[in-house]
Amino acid sequence: MTFLARAATRTGRLAKQRLNQPSSSSSSSSSPKRFYSPEVKTSSVPGPISKKVLSEIDRLTDARPSIVAVDYARCRGNYLVDADGNRHLDMFGQIASIAIGYRNERLEELAGSEEFRIAVMNRPALGVFPPKGLKELLETGLMSVRPKGLDHILTANCGSTANESAYKAACMAYRHRERGHSEFDQDEITSCMENAKPGSPQLTIMSFKSGFHGRLFASLSTTRSKPIHKLDIPAFDWPAVDWPRLKYPLEQNVSENQAEVERCLALVEETIHESKAKGRPVAALVVEPIQSEGGDNHAPPAFFRGLRDVTKRLGVYMIVDEVQTGVGATGSFWAHEKWGLTTPPDIVTFSKKMQAAGYYHTAEMRPSAGYRNFNTWMGDPARSMQARTIIQYIQENGLVEKTAEVGGKLYGVLEQLGHRFPGLIQSLRGKGEGTFIAFDAETAEKRDSIVSGLRNVGVLVGASGERAVRLRPMLIFGEKELDIFSDKFQAVLKDLA
Ligand SMILES: Cc1ncc(COP(=O)(O)O)c(C=O)c1O
Repeated sequence: MTFLARAATRTGRLAKQRLNQPSSSSSSSSSPKRFYSPEVKTSSVPGPISKKVLSEIDRLTDARPSIVAVDYARCRGNYLVDADGNRHLDMFGQIASIAIGYRNERLEELAGSEEFRIAVMNRPALGVFPPKGLKELLETGLMSVRPKGLDHILTANCGSTANESAYKAACMAYRHRERGHSEFDQDEITSCMENAKPGSPQLTIMSFKSGFHGRLFASLSTTRSKPIHKLDIPAFDWPAVDWPRLKYPLEQNVSENQAEVERCLALVEETIHESKAKGRPVAALVVEPIQSEGGDNHAPPAFFRGLRDVTKRLGVYMIVDEVQTGVGATGSFWAHEKWGLTTPPDIVTFSKKMQAAGYYHTAEMRPSAGYRNFNTWMGDPARSMQARTIIQYIQENGLVEKTAEVGGKLYGVLEQLGHRFPGLIQSLRGKGEGTFIAFDAETAEKRDSIVSGLRNVGVLVGASGERAVRLRPMLIFGEKELDIFSDKFQAVLKDLA
């Protein structure tokens, strides 16, 4: 065999291995080092270098929420390396935003391509000067995973702007339907410039208490997870209704939980009627499949089917916010796929793991004229390329199915630990929802001790709601990582018990 033939065979073999083993341990050509476990070199996390770097950053920009300073060049797969050289098994994934690992080899290949370089360096005003290959880019990427029934897309800049644009689309469609045509009358044209009705109508977007949909003005008005996000900010006077408070374990509280779901559905219907009677009709209802920032509050598929029935019947559009749940972590590509809806939602928003943001929508949600839902960038073709590679990698490696499987095992481990440490693991949530798993500790203090205890042994997890620990591993989190987490977590729990 010639040298070239040998090299070609080796390259082919390596490519095959990479595809068959998408776990954290796969190395990239720029770094042959393999990571198998966390390693904490400092006496606690953050270590001294991180602390120093963060205090320097803080002089320029607010670094108070920062956990550690990161050495991104040294991060690989499931592992984040901080400025002190500590290596963490990252089960928080940049607030649930990493799908296929740090420095993924396919993304690095994309980053080195001319197509990507041109896109990054020549970011277009997408709505007015789209690149000529945009249709193909969307079709082979973002649109290839569009939720059933939603054949259109609008790209945006982040989760909040995706939701804000979705709310606008729903309001425009609502008024268009009411009016029966797309022409505006003079009164509307004049009054909108005064922020007054009828041009600026008193439509509302309904949301759920303890939900989270972003931090801009409209999205923040529909966010009710924590006061810290909302204080001092003027808000739209929009209705929010109770989210079903399920009792755990679910198997032992079936009838109570069913009654709670029915109570909340009745409240939704009642509130839609009340709002209309007050001259503030509900244009859209926005809902997360799992209330994530609010503490991983789940509801059964029957609740969502009920919401679709009520919204359809009362002419309210339904926006499903899959910013955090989308892209595989729940064991299906979209969390709402599992609900068995008879008609699709009107809009599904996405961001985070997709690395590109926006929403999928029905034809009805397209505004009556161009420029009505618009901004300069409207997303970024480079991010859509990144999304395309992420989607392809997920599909080629069966990562949604793998996440469903390893998630089941992760849930099983936590269930066992919950029996042994009942003060530290309660109301375990996420059975059958992939690795999208959370639990409560008895108190917020105990929760914080779990999060910092894990951090000090090199495992990053998130906190949310009042006393929840949430796990948001990447889709490349496998059995090996599960074993490591399980060992580390047991040690932390023993220390705290
Ligand atoms: C469900 C949900 N919607 C919207 C957002 C807002 O996204 P972003 O922070 O990108 O604006 C988040 C962020 O955590 C989220 O979890």
